[in-house]
Amino acid sequence: MRVALSGTPGTGKTSVAVFLKNQGYNVVHLHQYAKEHFCIAGKDRERDSELIDMVKLEKAIRKQYAGEALVFFDGHIGHLLQSMEKVVLLRCHPKELKQRLLKKKWTAKKRKENIDAEILDVILCEAVEHHASEDLFEIDTTGKKVEEVAGIIVRLVRKNFQPTRTYRVGQIDWSEEILSGDPV
Ligand SMILES: Nc1ncnc2c1ncn2[C@@H]1O[C@H](COP(=O)(O)OP(=O)(O)O)[C@@H](O)[C@H]1O
Ligand SMILES: [Mg+2]
Repeated sequence: MRVALSGTPGTGKTSVAVFLKNQGYNVVHLHQYAKEHFCIAGKDRERDSELIDMVKLEKAIRKQYAGEALVFFDGHIGHLLQSMEKVVLLRCHPKELKQRLLKKKWTAKKRKENIDAEILDVILCEAVEHHASEDLFEIDTTGKKVEEVAGIIVRLVRKNFQPTRTYRVGQIDWSEEILSGDPV
């Protein structure tokens, strides 16, 4: 089963993915995989980031990971891939996200862009356009440790991604933070 771990940058995808990898799970870092499989289409100069050829990436993943029992895909484009059978979105309260992005030494501009995206549910909206809501799960990572979040994901897998009240999508709402006026 192909499971995407997606979410706004800073919500903890890579930290959780590395933790899962250390526990023996099969993990693919999507950006690295795209590079290694010639799926880079160009460069976004304004954002200083690479543009990924999603069609090529989708094909490469479907071919390589057709019969695997369980593979986690780490990256903020995972929810856009139709080849993902389940999508787990990591969420983080904007105030804590700000602290995490400060720790990563991101610029104010990049912090604002990502905190705004988290408040406005940008990734969730995209995920809903690409996947049925029963295949989508959201975990609020605020105040949790990396291993706790990984534990929640492992439990979702063990329960074969049965519908859950706690982690179904649409319950997280950071919209009040729009009015907070807090500087980033
Ligand atoms: N519950 C948590 N889950 C994941 N990361 C967390 C958590 N709590 C704190 N963090 C920290 O937040 C940061 C997340 O960074 P990273 O894993 O690179 O995020 P992403 O891959 O989503 O951009 C790391 O510094 C990590 O230690
Ligand atoms: Mg990452």
